[in-house]
Amino acid sequence: MAQGCKTIGVLTSGGDAPGMNAAIRAVVRAGIAAGMKVKGIKRGYAGLLEEEIVDMDSRSVADIISRGGTILYTARCRAFMTEEGQRKGAEICHKHGIDGLVVIGGDGSFNGACKLANLGINTIGVPGTIDLDIACTDYTIGFDTAINTAMEAIDKIRDTSTSHERVSIIEVMGRHAGYIALWCGIANGAENVLIPEAYDYDEQKLIDQIIRQRKIGKTHHIIINAEGIGHSVGMAARIEAATGLETRATILGYMQRGGRPTCKDRVYASIMGARAVHLLAEGKSKRVVAHGDGGFIDYDINEALAMKKEIHPDFLTVGNELIRI
Ligand code: ADP
Ligand code: F6P
Repeated sequence: MAQGCKTIGVLTSGGDAPGMNAAIRAVVRAGIAAGMKVKGIKRGYAGLLEEEIVDMDSRSVADIISRGGTILYTARCRAFMTEEGQRKGAEICHKHGIDGLVVIGGDGSFNGACKLANLGINTIGVPGTIDLDIACTDYTIGFDTAINTAMEAIDKIRDTSTSHERVSIIEVMGRHAGYIALWCGIANGAENVLIPEAYDYDEQKLIDQIIRQRKIGKTHHIIINAEGIGHSVGMAARIEAATGLETRATILGYMQRGGRPTCKDRVYASIMGARAVHLLAEGKSKRVVAHGDGGFIDYDINEALAMKKEIHPDFLTVGNELIRI
């Protein structure tokens, strides 16, 4: 039978996401409950290479479940993309007695975890990103908070947009994925949603729609634009020139990544963090914790990374009927 880990590390990597603290807390407390030592690695793989490693106990994760961001900090690290960096990372883990590692982050971070696993460190990935762009799971830590933050901001923009009878383009995060835009488009009753997965870049069609909607009495026109399409300011100028309607662009930006996590993000992140520890306790490695079919599951990291994420057909249907994606 595979040997369970004795000392585990936990790190957060890539873009931060509200709920990461809840996951860290769960890893620390579930680890201690399983009789393991737990070490926090600061600043993701960059901190691993710099040996920014601290002992964690139950008190070191007190009062963090309601806080956005990550108490361990996060970073992107080019040096860890190299074999030399990965070997050094594994050696540092060995030096500190770390035989298991929980990596909270996105696909990139899971690639790094896979490399460490090949070098003898048991690793488990926990999906943390506001973008929901991890194929093996229908939930990622931070997405729920981010869409609620964005939805509230867009409601406010809609008020002023209506008062001034303007067209508003609101850019939300999602470099490669349109999930935040799609969910907000439905929740905010937008007229159009532009997402990397579906936008045909036919701006004239958009302009014709705006003119048509105005003729039938609409007093505003909300376009939610995913970051992956971008160029909202230029788009606003072109739409204003073509329609004669005042058009404003708002880029919501990093406010979407911060703030107090929602109840769902706290609870799901806690369950996922604890499950990662249970897998390490069973001697498992190279797994990713996921949510699907109404429950929590886990996948082989390589299988998970090979999966392709498609927008669910129900979303495309409602998208086409209600918001024209
Ligand atoms: P995310 O985890 O949110 O997808 P990134 O793609 O920026 O974010 O990845 C986070 C970090 O994971 C990178 O800065 C790098 O240190 C590490 N990483 C990404 N891809 C790989 C890879 N192919 N091999 C090793 N490490 C990787
Ligand atoms: O966390 C995901 C994400 O917010 C993407 O939507 C965005 O493109 C990216 O992170 C921006 O990351 P940063 O500017 O922090 O490198």
